[in-house]
Amino acid sequence: MTSALPRHPRFVSLEGGEGAGKTTAINAIQTCLQRHGHEVLLTREPGGTPLAERIRALVLTPDAEIAAEPLSAEAELLLVFAARAQHVRQVILPALQRGAYVISDRFTDSSYAYQGGGRGLDVTWIAELERRAVGLLPGLTLLLDVDIAVGRARASGRDAGPDRIEAERDDFFGRVRAAFQQRAAADPQRFALIDAGQPQPQVAADVVACVERWLAQGAVA
Ligand SMILES: Nc1ncnc2c1ncn2[C@@H]1O[C@H](COP(=O)(O)OP(=O)(O)OP(=O)(O)O)[C@@H](O)[C@H]1O
Ligand SMILES: [Mg+2]
Repeated sequence: MTSALPRHPRFVSLEGGEGAGKTTAINAIQTCLQRHGHEVLLTREPGGTPLAERIRALVLTPDAEIAAEPLSAEAELLLVFAARAQHVRQVILPALQRGAYVISDRFTDSSYAYQGGGRGLDVTWIAELERRAVGLLPGLTLLLDVDIAVGRARASGRDAGPDRIEAERDDFFGRVRAAFQQRAAADPQRFALIDAGQPQPQVAADVVACVERWLAQGAVA
């Protein structure tokens, strides 16, 4: 499904599974945009505002550490959209309106992939939340695609322990990856697919080349 929501020409999102290299790649994009003289705001999801970061903690902290009950898939979906509604209004729209570029480490595509693909929630419900609570799309989305075992190994080398999502099983991450790939294939105008299994300098070079092309043409394709 390709949304008809407006695509903002200064809004870039990075998407992909655990350990794909999103957070690592973001600095290369920032440097590229700054070289062109642009103001750049880096942000992330879930989170990006003080309130939304508190929601992030609810979503990512292992269940047993917060309360003696599991977080339901439906509550997880509504929490990530509550955080996103706040993030869009408090941070993303004001920055775009003053002329800055915004780079978000994850955005709504992650909800389609994790809560839709991973948890199996109804995609039409997600699209309705996107339309009502978010109301815009990035102009460019870089999907960092990597084998799930490779991503897992990278993420586990970095963290003290897995968060609530990272603790999911391989079949969950397989569905997440497939959902991301399907979204990218359905909307090649917005998405650039990056082979994130390559060495980090090559991933950075590919990401920067996409951003340069997007800046030059106003589109990925
Ligand atoms: N292309 C690469 N090759 C090898 N290692 C990489 C590569 N890109 C990133 N890494 C390393 O893998 C780890 C995970 O990278 P990073 O934190 O950027 O992933 P992420 O996509 O942001 O993960 P998460 O979804 O968990 O936030 C880091 O230790 C990083 O240094
Ligand atoms: Mg990250």
